[in-house]
Amino acid sequence: MIISPSVLSLDYSRMAEQMSELNASGAEWIHFDVMDGHFVPNLTFGPDLLKAFRKMSSLVLDVHLMVTDPGFFSDVFLKAGADVITFHYEAMGSPDEIRSLAKHIREQGALAGISVKPGTDVSVLYPFLEDFDLFLIMSVEPGFGGQSFMMSAVDKIAALREKLNEAGLHAHIEVDGGINAETGRLVKDAGADVLVAGSYVFKNNIKEAVNSLV
Ligand code: DX5
Ligand code: ZN
Repeated sequence: MIISPSVLSLDYSRMAEQMSELNASGAEWIHFDVMDGHFVPNLTFGPDLLKAFRKMSSLVLDVHLMVTDPGFFSDVFLKAGADVITFHYEAMGSPDEIRSLAKHIREQGALAGISVKPGTDVSVLYPFLEDFDLFLIMSVEPGFGGQSFMMSAVDKIAALREKLNEAGLHAHIEVDGGINAETGRLVKDAGADVLVAGSYVFKNNIKEAVNSLV
């Protein structure tokens, strides 16, 4: 399992200390939630903060764009050092637009990801199985940390993993929202291989929490 702690829940008054704990925790990725105050009713981080994470860590920078204009912000965060860029299906228009942004992200040397909110059927992703390196299933309504896991994510993950297997593809399935040791086990059994966890990691001992998810 790849663990991607969400720095939405990091204590920024103790940033250096928490980052050195995170770097030594066994987590391989860092999940960076970009919210524009429009696609979701919350506002978070810009590219300069991502550059600071690049200086503080060699972990993979996993950028989750919760924005109305993924085309614009993909370039902004690619330039700032993102290794993975995931945008929302719900923010996009035609299939051509979705494929061309995925292609552009890959051409810049990053992994391309697409995400669906809890109310979006997972089958909307099936036409794009070859176009993405990562599929992010939201298990809470995007916008805030600390919400409870929605069980409907489990069936979505299982269905998507089956489709990928049928197609002979090995893309990542990432899950985001309400992940702890118990829900982490459920989604792992369903076929997820990247777990995002914010409050669970940063409100506990970071290393112990990460180890309980692996
Ligand atoms: C929510 C964000 C998540 C958030 C998860 O919109 O996308 O990454 O940090 O937080 P927890 O793990 O606390 O549910
Ligand atoms: Zn996220």
